[in-house]
Amino acid sequence: MTRTVRAKAPAKVNLQLTVGPRRADGYHPLVTVFQALDLWEVVEATPRTDGEITLAVEVAAGSPVDAAGVPLDHTNLAWKAAELLARTFGITDGVDLRILKGVPTAGGMAGGSADAAAALVACAEAWDTGATRGELAAMAARLGADVPFSLHGHTAVGLGRGDELTPAMSHGEFHWVLATQTEGLSTPAVFQEFDRRLEAREQAASDFEVDGAIMRALMAGDAVALGQSLLNDLEGPALSLMPRLEEVLDAAEAAEACGAIVSGSGPTVAALARSRQHALAIAAHLRASKVADAVLTASGPASGTMLVQE
Ligand code: C5P
Repeated sequence: MTRTVRAKAPAKVNLQLTVGPRRADGYHPLVTVFQALDLWEVVEATPRTDGEITLAVEVAAGSPVDAAGVPLDHTNLAWKAAELLARTFGITDGVDLRILKGVPTAGGMAGGSADAAAALVACAEAWDTGATRGELAAMAARLGADVPFSLHGHTAVGLGRGDELTPAMSHGEFHWVLATQTEGLSTPAVFQEFDRRLEAREQAASDFEVDGAIMRALMAGDAVALGQSLLNDLEGPALSLMPRLEEVLDAAEAAEACGAIVSGSGPTVAALARSRQHALAIAAHLRASKVADAVLTASGPASGTMLVQE
């Protein structure tokens, strides 16, 4: 009898994203602080005996996320995760994968990376590989720079490509409002724009270290201080590729968010609230000002990728 295994993986927001000059391998060295948010990608894995992989993508019930544009073939990161796991563990079975999207697509919140992390965990269990968390983390790093954090969750500092993780201390819960755009931004294109601007300036972007004010605000559970400290070197490049995001940042400021920032490579804007009620008020203001295609609320830090019951 075949059984379906489900895993869920969180979205992320970068509280700090400091980017260094492009390396020879095309990647950029990062100093980043990740916080996992309780918006989830769910991946269901049902083993097949014929060695084939299939993929279906749906939007999770009640979510305003748009699944259009998600590839349904071997280029999808969940599919690649299943292939890598099968190759690594000599699995000859196939799998039917079903993704239930709860994280904005191409939004700078690592939705695709969450699919890879959830697919690794679901397939490892469905195929009974006995893979350890360490083995899954090594495969995650091969799949993409943000996949290890999606597996890890909580709060972490990421160095290297963002995949060398150290857990970070954090106190309490932070409440976020996420303003998404239907039109995505391509991560490589935003990094290219970063390169172009850096060349024009002929200097390194910022101090290349973890920001002390962010770490202190996390440990104190202080949303006001955290909001004032958010930093993202990809924000300028994302704004120049999509200037209307400036209006989203302005609207968040008008709603008295503690701080607002483009999430990762964008175009989602993440606004930090003082409380859950404040998040709902900011969300209402952003909806009324019509600066985003969808507005969601979420809180963090959330856990890493885990198996879930039906
Ligand atoms: O690793 P991942 O496939 O998620 O990265 C997508 C793209 O983002 C890379 O191909 C690269 O262009 C860019 N990137 C980068 N430096 C990083 C992470 C990603 O330049 N540290």
